Amino acid sequence: MNLVGSLFSSSIGRKILMAVTGVILVGFIIGHLVGNLQVFQDPDHLNGYGAFLHNLGPLLWVARIGLLVAVFIHIWVATVLTIENHAARQVKYGVKHTIRATLASRLMRWTGVVVLAFIVYHLAHFTFGYAQASTFKENIPHYFMAEQYRVAGFPVIDKGAEVLDLRTMVILGFQQPIVAVFYMIAVGLLSVHLLHGFDSMFQSIGWRSAKWAGALRKVTIAFCLAYFLANAAIPGAVLAGKLQPSEPARVAAHR
Ligand code: HEM
Repeated sequence: MNLVGSLFSSSIGRKILMAVTGVILVGFIIGHLVGNLQVFQDPDHLNGYGAFLHNLGPLLWVARIGLLVAVFIHIWVATVLTIENHAARQVKYGVKHTIRATLASRLMRWTGVVVLAFIVYHLAHFTFGYAQASTFKENIPHYFMAEQYRVAGFPVIDKGAEVLDLRTMVILGFQQPIVAVFYMIAVGLLSVHLLHGFDSMFQSIGWRSAKWAGALRKVTIAFCLAYFLANAAIPGAVLAGKLQPSEPARVAAHR
């Protein structure tokens, strides 16, 4: 059997796939968070970052497709491993072990499902630009077409160019408390998902030896907590009134 075939068909191969796709997805969410934290800077930073991504053209699509493939493989392997573990445990283990393992994997499944639902909502919200339409129910169907979501005078990348005001869209999106709270809950559950994900990845690659297990656990908890707080800070700051949208007049003033 070839390498790809055995990756998908053997138990160890699937664990490798799970770890590799997990690392790709963690890489994405860290990069995405670092990019998003620019919302705390001058509007040109986040807007410039958005324009830079959109201008990548075919490269952006390669990254998007790669991400989508990683998500599908991750979910598919998780499902297969869960079914296999469940079947194996029913035969081999006693009652106590079964309850512990099932609780942990149930948590993984539910946090995974909520994160997936969040991503679908999130794409509709920001990538397809329905944020302000759901927020204000105004006659502004789509931010990509709305005049007030364009800004000019752009010093970061392309001075003077007119770009989409991604930062204003994000802030207006989070001014709706229910949306902001939903994001905080979703990134909280994603952090819990990561906590278990890192644990099982370290277990699979054999790093959780008696010597290292305690230290690894502490680093994992610190990372997941920092990830949660940094993400939640964005909707939190909007709700607290610390982040304000750009003035719509800014566009007109630059024309
Ligand atoms: C407060 C937290 C977050 C904020 C403010 C935020 C903001 C955004 C924005 C503004 C976009 C659109 C970018 C553009 O079109 O230029 C976007 C896209 C995206 N976000 Fe987030 N995001 C957050 C959290 C997350 C999380 C936790 C995930 C993953 C679990 C995620 C996954 C994605 C994905 C997959 C895209 C689509 C990227 C693409 O193909 O262009 N985001 N996000």
